[in-house]
Parts: sequence; structure tokens; C-alpha cells
Amino acid sequence: MQNFDLYNPTRILFGQGRVAELGQWVPADARVLILFGGESARKNGTLDEVRAALGQRSVSEFGGIEPNPSYETLMRAVEQIKRENIDFLLAVGGGSVIDGTKFIAAAVHYEGDPMEILFTYAGNVKKAMPFGSVLTLPATGSEMNNGGVVTIKSKGAKLPFRNALLFPQFSVLDPTKTYTLPQRQLANGVVDSFVHVMEQYLTYPAGGHAQDRFAEGLLQTLIEIGPKAVETQEYEARASLMWVATLALNGLIGAGVPQDWATHMIGHELTAKYNIDHARTLAVVLPAMLQVRRAAKHAKLLQYAERVWNITGGDEEARIDAAIAKTRAFFESLELPTHLSAYDIGKDAIDALVEQLKAHGMIALGERQEITPEVSRAVLEAAL
Ligand code: NZQ
Ligand code: ZN
Repeated sequence: MQNFDLYNPTRILFGQGRVAELGQWVPADARVLILFGGESARKNGTLDEVRAALGQRSVSEFGGIEPNPSYETLMRAVEQIKRENIDFLLAVGGGSVIDGTKFIAAAVHYEGDPMEILFTYAGNVKKAMPFGSVLTLPATGSEMNNGGVVTIKSKGAKLPFRNALLFPQFSVLDPTKTYTLPQRQLANGVVDSFVHVMEQYLTYPAGGHAQDRFAEGLLQTLIEIGPKAVETQEYEARASLMWVATLALNGLIGAGVPQDWATHMIGHELTAKYNIDHARTLAVVLPAMLQVRRAAKHAKLLQYAERVWNITGGDEEARIDAAIAKTRAFFESLELPTHLSAYDIGKDAIDALVEQLKAHGMIALGERQEITPEVSRAVLEAAL
């Protein structure tokens, strides 16, 4: 197990009806900006609930944060915050709104061009506004982590960032907020969470015995309750999906173990170029990544086969084939295609995607920084 620091200051308020309590975690004299996406937060009544919970505080709104949030939109919120002297932010939505709020929280106080935040992985962010979140889409874990992803539309670049100052102070996780989600977004949430776990688990044996068992438990939980959470409004399934999605990327299972993230970085380029939902890019890339990297991931692929899919006995390569096939079948069962052809993306598109990876510095990816542009090309070809 590698040395690690684990710091996570986010208070979680989990359960039905907890939005009403958020006022106790917002300063009584705060000048609050509520940030949200399209109309879902208003239509499902969450904005009204949040306003009621904020009582007599000064409250303004900033809507229109798009899925895959753009730098251009977020900078308009920064202007509003400075104009209205806002001092507390409250994100209401999914990963796009929460990530966008993290970027805004950093950009308001950034000395220099805020676009730099995205080109430096937020490495030189020294101050950030306080913020909380009300999660309405379980998928990214953004509600309990300090990372995000923002697209610079003018450059066609979707770039990740992370900084210890960018944890939400609190997040409300009310599973009933998922009741207005379309099945597509619920399925996205199952697969994004699944791949977050795989990025931190399916690498190479590193003595993370507890982390492995925890990761395997999250994967088995998604396999067990994921389809039910997509197809029904059963509270327990939605509550479990919400909590698994948060645990998948709040730092716990990734502490002290090697991490991959190459699937995500290649996925981001597909989203930036074709505007494919984040999770749907992962459903295409992960099976191909496992196939291309099966030798380097041999030991963990066998462990994953046995402990998650109960595939034991027989030829090792056959077991690995079966585990990859099970993974692909799970994504397809949730109606997330696992081939680029489903998005009319063919071999002729691969050169430009590899050039994008190079342009964004994504040239030594993966748990051993072995995913060069040539390996990424092989993965994209295997995903056709
Ligand atoms: O815009 P609104 O009206 O809110 O509609 C949204 C949006 O259209 C809708 N929605 C959200 N909650 C709803 C709802 N519709 C009905 N009822 C509700 N309760 O769902 C659509 C998608 O929302 P979005 O926030 O974009 O989805 P998600 O939560 O999957 O976030 C995706 C973004 O998160 C980033 C991705 O790159 C992408 O930009 N990620 C963030 C990570 C992090 N911070 O750690 C890690 C992830 O790997 C990921 O990269
Ligand atoms: Zn993700």
C-alpha cells in the first residue's frame, strides 16, 4: 500500500426531506447565489425548497449551467457574484452544476486569467468561496470530492481540475430528488460510478486489501441494485445508488492504491468532440481498455473476474475474456452502447481524437503512465 493523505471535510446530509435542514450550515448573514442547470431543479420543486430553507437571507439565482459545463457560461456567474457581492454558493443539480460551482468558487478569487485554472489542474488556486450542494443526479461523486471537469468551448477542450479548497462544505443527498430523472441519466449514473471504481481498482496488486474489498463491494452493489434503480422508483435502490456513487469517488477507495483514469481522459475527448454523455463515453472505452491492457492488468482482471463476477476455474485467459464480456454486457443491459459505431464514429475519426489527447497533454496516462497516444489509438480502434 502506498503512503497517502486523506482529507475530506464535506458534511453529508443523507435522506428524504433533508433539504429543509441546510440553513443550519449556511451563515445566517450570507448573501447566497443558488446555481442550477436547466429547468429540472425548478420543475421538481427543489429550488423552492432550497429558498425556503434559506429563510430571510439575501438569495439570487444563476441558471443555465449546461451538461458538461462551459468556462464561458461559468464566467458569467463570476461576474454576477462580483456585481452582487455574493459570499456563499449553493449548487443544485448533478455533476455539471456542482463542478461548475467549484470552478466558479476558485475563479472569483483567482489572481490572473481564470482560464489558467483549467490548464494548471487548479494547482495554483490559493483561495475559494465557500459552497454547498444539493445533489439531484447520483453519478459523479462531485458532491463529496474536490475535483471537476470544465469545457473551454472556444478551444474544444474538456479539462479536469482538483484542489483541496474545492470540497463542498456540505451536500444534501435526498434520494427522492432522483424521481424526476429520465432512465438515461440514471443508467449514466450507474455506469459512471462503476467506472470510477474500476479506475481506482483494476490496476495492479498493491497491498490495498481493504480498498479492494471495498471496491468489489461497490461494484457488486451496482450490479445488484443498478438495474432496479433505473427501472423502478424503489427508494432503497435509489438510496443505495446515490450512496455508492458518492463513495466511489470521495477519496476512500483510491487512498494508497495505484489509479488508472486513462478511460476517463479518452472519454473526455469523445465528449468534447461529439458531445456524447460522459458515462456513455466510458461504456465504450472501458471494455476496449481492459482488452488492450489485459497483460498489464492480468492479476487484477483475474481477481475482478472471481470476486465480482464469480468466474473461477479454467484457463486464465478465458476467465479474463469472460470478465470483460460480463462488463460489456452489464453496460449494454442498461442501454449504454459499448462500441463507437453506435455513435457513427468510425476509424477515420481516430487520428483527430489522438491529436486532441496530445494537445491536452494526455500522453502518459494510466497507473504506470504507459498509455501513450499510440496505446490510446489501439484502445479507440478496439472500441470501434
Ligand atoms: O440541466 P438540468 O435541468 O439540471 O438537467 C440535467 C442535465 O440535463 C438533468 N438532471 C439532473 N438532475 C435531474 C435532472 N433531470 C431531472 N431530474 C433531476 N433530478 O440531467 C442532465 C445531466 O446532468 P449532469 O449534471 O450533466 O450529469 P452528471 O451528474 O452525470 O454530470 C456529468 C458531468 O460531471 C463530470 C463529467 O465530466 C460531466 O461534465 N464529472 C465530474 C467528476 C467529479 N467532479 O469528480 C468525475 C466524473 O468522472 C465526471 O468527469
Ligand atoms: Zn466519470
